[in-house]
Formats: sequence, C-alpha cells, structure tokens
Amino acid sequence: MANRLPVDRITTPEGEPSFRTSPGGLVTALEPVMRAADGAWVGWTGSVDDHLEPFEHDGIHIIPVALSADDVELYYEGFSNDTLWPLYHDVIAPPAYHREWWERYVAVNRRFAERAAEIAAEDATVWVQDYQLQLVPRMLRQARPDLTIGFFNHIPFPAYGIFSQLPWRTQIVEGLLGADVIGFQRTADAGNFSRAVRRLLGYQAKGSVIDVPLDDSELASAKHRISAVRPNKPVRTVVARAFPISIDAESYEDLARRPDIQARAKEIREGLGNPDVVMLGVDRLDYTKGIGHRLKAFGELLADGAVDVEDVTLVQVASPSRERVRTYQRLRDEIELQVGRINGDYSTLSHTAISYLHHGYPREEMVALYLAADVMLVTALRDGMNLVAKEYVACRFDNDGVLVLSEFAGAADELKTALRVNPHDIEGLKEAMLTAMRMPRAERSRRMRAMRKRVTENDVERWSSEFLAALAAPSTSLALPAAN
Ligand code: G6P
Repeated sequence: MANRLPVDRITTPEGEPSFRTSPGGLVTALEPVMRAADGAWVGWTGSVDDHLEPFEHDGIHIIPVALSADDVELYYEGFSNDTLWPLYHDVIAPPAYHREWWERYVAVNRRFAERAAEIAAEDATVWVQDYQLQLVPRMLRQARPDLTIGFFNHIPFPAYGIFSQLPWRTQIVEGLLGADVIGFQRTADAGNFSRAVRRLLGYQAKGSVIDVPLDDSELASAKHRISAVRPNKPVRTVVARAFPISIDAESYEDLARRPDIQARAKEIREGLGNPDVVMLGVDRLDYTKGIGHRLKAFGELLADGAVDVEDVTLVQVASPSRERVRTYQRLRDEIELQVGRINGDYSTLSHTAISYLHHGYPREEMVALYLAADVMLVTALRDGMNLVAKEYVACRFDNDGVLVLSEFAGAADELKTALRVNPHDIEGLKEAMLTAMRMPRAERSRRMRAMRKRVTENDVERWSSEFLAALAAPSTSLALPAAN
C-alpha cells in the first residue's frame, strides 16, 4: 500500500482512458512479489475524485482510494508535503503546522487502513510505504490483529530535536509502532526513530528491537499466544532498522548497452556543441536537492575563469513536482532566475552554460543522459537515499564517469568511492567539480568499479526480499520484555 498506485492514467490512441505501469523503482521491486503472492496494491491514482472500482493491471489487483480536492489540498499538499516533508528533511524549508491538515491526514490514513482491512486475506502481510501513511500500521492492527504489517519510510527520519516540533509527534510514533517491522534508509534514521520512541513513550528500545506493551484489547486477544505468565506485562516486539533501498540495476545496464541509446547519448553531446566535459544534475524540482547550491558553484567557476563555457556544460533536468505547494513555486522562480542570470552572463551563441530542462523524461532518455555525462552532480541537502546516484552508477558499464555525491544523501553510506561533498561548502563543491573534471581515467575507473559492485549486488530485489524476510521472521512476534 502506498499513497500512489503503481499505474499512471493514459489515453489510448483510440481516445479511451487507460492505465500504464509507472516507471518507478518501487513498482519494479514489488511487481514480482505481488504476482507470486496474489497481492493487491492500495493507493491513489493521482487525480481528484477518481472513484474507480478495483481492477486488474498486468496481473496485479489495483485497489484505488479516492481523494477529493480537499483531501489533496489538506492531506497530500498540506500535511504530507508542507508539514512532514520539510520537517523530515531537517527543516530546510519551514514546516507549516495546521490542525485542519492534521485532521485530514488522520481521516485519509483511516480510509487507506479501512480499505486494506477489507481486502486483506486472513493472516496476510500488508506492507505500507512512506510518510504519507504513517498512521496506517496502528489503525490496521486495531482492525485486523491477524495481519503481519510492515512499514518502510523512504525519506529521512529526523533527529529528535527536530521531530519534537511536530504537535502530533506522539500519534505519529504510535501509528508507526503498529507495524511489526519498520524500515528506514539509513542506520541513523532508525536510531532517530528509536530515540523518539524512548523519549515520547518511554518504551525499551535496544539495538533494533523495540518492546511495545500490549494494550488491554490486544492482551485479551493475545492471551492464548503467550505461554509464560510472569509479573511483567507482555509486549509485542517491533523491529526498526535500516534496509537501504536500491534500483533494478540490471535493467538500467541493459538499457545502457542498447546501441540506439548509446547513439542517442552521442547525439546529446553533439547537440551541446561537443564540449570537453558534460556535467549533469537530475532531480525532482525540490528544495531538498541542493540545485541552487550546485548552480552557484558552477556559476562561480565560470566567473573565476576556472572553467570556460566553450569547454564545460551543465545539463540540469528538474522534473516538475508538487506544483501547487507555494514553497515549490518559489523554488522554481529562484532556480529559473539563477539559471537565466548565469546563462545571460556566460553563454555564447554556440555554447550554453546551463541547459535547463523542466520536464520529466522516459527512462531511455535518462539512460542516454547518464551515458553522455562525464560528471554526475548529486548535491542534496538532505535525501533519504537518492536513486539517481545509483542509476548513474548502474548505467556506467564502461567504468567511466565521476559521481559527485552529497554526504547528506543516504546513498553516501553505500557509495563510498564517490567524490563526497558538503553542498553547503561552496568552495568545497567547486573544488570537487574541478577534481571530477580533471580526474585521470584510471582513478575514475577504480572508483566506478567499486560503486558498481555495490549497486549490482544490492539491487532492489534484494531490498524487498530482505525486508519481507525480516517481516516473516519469528523475532517479530509476542514476547516478554527483555531483561534489563
Ligand atoms: C519521494 C517520496 C515518494 C513520492 C515521490 C514523488 O520519492 O518518497 O513517496 O511518491 O517523492 O512525490 P509525489 O508527491 O509526486 O508523490
């Protein structure tokens, strides 16, 4: 279950409304699992008031949850993307706290939970995805104690000093603790969550195991499952730990090896005037991505004369995102002003300093761009994982290309031979860009090989199977509290 369904609405050439599988990595990861287990996906189509009956798409049962215009405004744009998103990304933008948004978040989470409770088979496994649905695990457990429930948080979980701003922090933590396994991108995120549990609820959290006392109704229904009667109140054990998400690396490499896509990569470079160095940024247009920091550093390199517009081009793909949220509208204005200034100051008739593209592209075109890029810039100020970094690595079967990677992206925990940067340090960022441009082939190859090993071994199939294995493990069952 996720806020979004794994399908996008399309119109067929005959003008009929239809659906197409979304290109996202989560879909690729879960599709085979869902087919094998006769699973259903509960989620929103992305359109307002889309009241659809459940249907089947590519062997997966699709269970749409309808959202009204108010739901979209208050639950999705409001609480999910203007409260939780900035709060969980270390308040890079100020989160807004509105009681009306929170109330709708509760109501919509209840709708998702009720839908799942209706359709899940006896003793089924339900896997809830991401910050939009943090209350669902508890709601679902209350309605259906027979279910095994997993939750995965795709974005960071902030330090307690930040999380504690949230007026509804206790409800959120209790909501998540309804799950048997709570997955995070990084060990640090899991640690932040466990600390929040200890501070807010006083529960014992040791290593990755949290002891959650049973409430009275759970106690009554669970009695027959607890053998030993001791003075201690029985607990449910919840596992909270890191399961870093990945991509379907093989499918990216397969695309990268296709001659038509390689030809397209060459064509892209030619279109840019065959510069010596092509640098690339690929992001949703989001303030967490550090696009402005990257542009500032590049602009200064041009201003200093350290790079020449005839030799170096930056391609920035910024795909449109959450366009009705004011912070995103403001960001777009800022970025486009910055791009316009730099291009106005440094472009020539034959060479553009920054090729800025406010579009989303099909995966084939993205792969061609990755192949065309000598330097990939991932300068997020905070990012749960950043799959773009892993996609770039997966495509570079030629063991070439340099990844400049922010230490604030989850991917930095794994891609240790990337050129690591603190994007707030503009001097450091400029130096890293220059180092990347000038790096000898042997060093590029050594660094890329190590990263490719990691990405191809830890692919998204491994991520989902490890999570589901943890969910199936008996350690997540009823137990007596661990001795102190
Ligand atoms: C991030 C979130 C996802 C979300 C995606 C796109 O990756 O973790 O949950 O679906 O951004 O954002 P959107 O608001 O368009 O769903």
